[in-house]
Amino acid sequence: MNSAKSSVVVAENLTLAYKKNEPIIQNATLSIKMGDFVFITGKSGSGKSTFLKSMYGAIHPREGILNVCGINLRNVSTSNKNFLRKHLGVVFQDYKLIENWTIEKNVMLPLLIAGFSKDVCISQAHKLLNHVKLVHKADKYPLELSGGEQQRVAVARALAHNPVLILADEPTGNLDEYSSSVIWDLLKGANAQLGTTVITVTHKIPSLLRVNYRHFIIEDGGIDEVS
Ligand SMILES: Nc1ncnc2c1ncn2[C@@H]1O[C@H](COP(=O)(O)OP(=O)(O)O)[C@@H](O)[C@H]1O
Ligand SMILES: [Mg+2]
Repeated sequence: MNSAKSSVVVAENLTLAYKKNEPIIQNATLSIKMGDFVFITGKSGSGKSTFLKSMYGAIHPREGILNVCGINLRNVSTSNKNFLRKHLGVVFQDYKLIENWTIEKNVMLPLLIAGFSKDVCISQAHKLLNHVKLVHKADKYPLELSGGEQQRVAVARALAHNPVLILADEPTGNLDEYSSSVIWDLLKGANAQLGTTVITVTHKIPSLLRVNYRHFIIEDGGIDEVS
């Protein structure tokens, strides 16, 4: 039952701004539960990336409450922010892969940070690269791959440590249909099989994605759910 599920993200009267008195998001109230699959849409410049940034602690609330995985992000300590980031998987539109690491090592990154043994890191990276259909390119470097392939590596990396929450910023923006479908399948699979909460900004909700999803629109500083 929905009401019994715990919240992963709670925002109450949340205001986000880069400059004082110039709010990007104003008085937003919403709750995202464990296992939800959430799409966020909105015009360019409406504040979608800003809202995602706030959830991984890269911009702090000006007003109101923002709790992510039980961490209060209004006044967050460095140790709590580090704790939070270990439980998150973040996918950036520009991939942010480490160029002088093989793609296998890129996927291992969150596992290396978490201190897993080399064997666990390698087998988990292999499994994820298999899911994104890139296991045959494990030894290649990011710049030897196409944009779509690089983004598939970025999504595999974000999921490597089985995070509680995935935050993805237009993960399929500008990608070919094949790479887009591999990415949506992977996010859908993590949500369905592991209960991973997924929050993703997209310009277009994929029509073939057969999941029960929630949809929020950011407009004029507000975040409203489409029912
Ligand atoms: N680092 C920043 N400093 C100041 N303003 C910013 C910064 N990043 C984004 N903005 C502004 O905040 C607004 C929302 O940006 P953003 O969240 O990136 O929009 P979206 O992702 O919906 O396209 C825009 O007007 C943008 O110019
Ligand atoms: Mg954006």
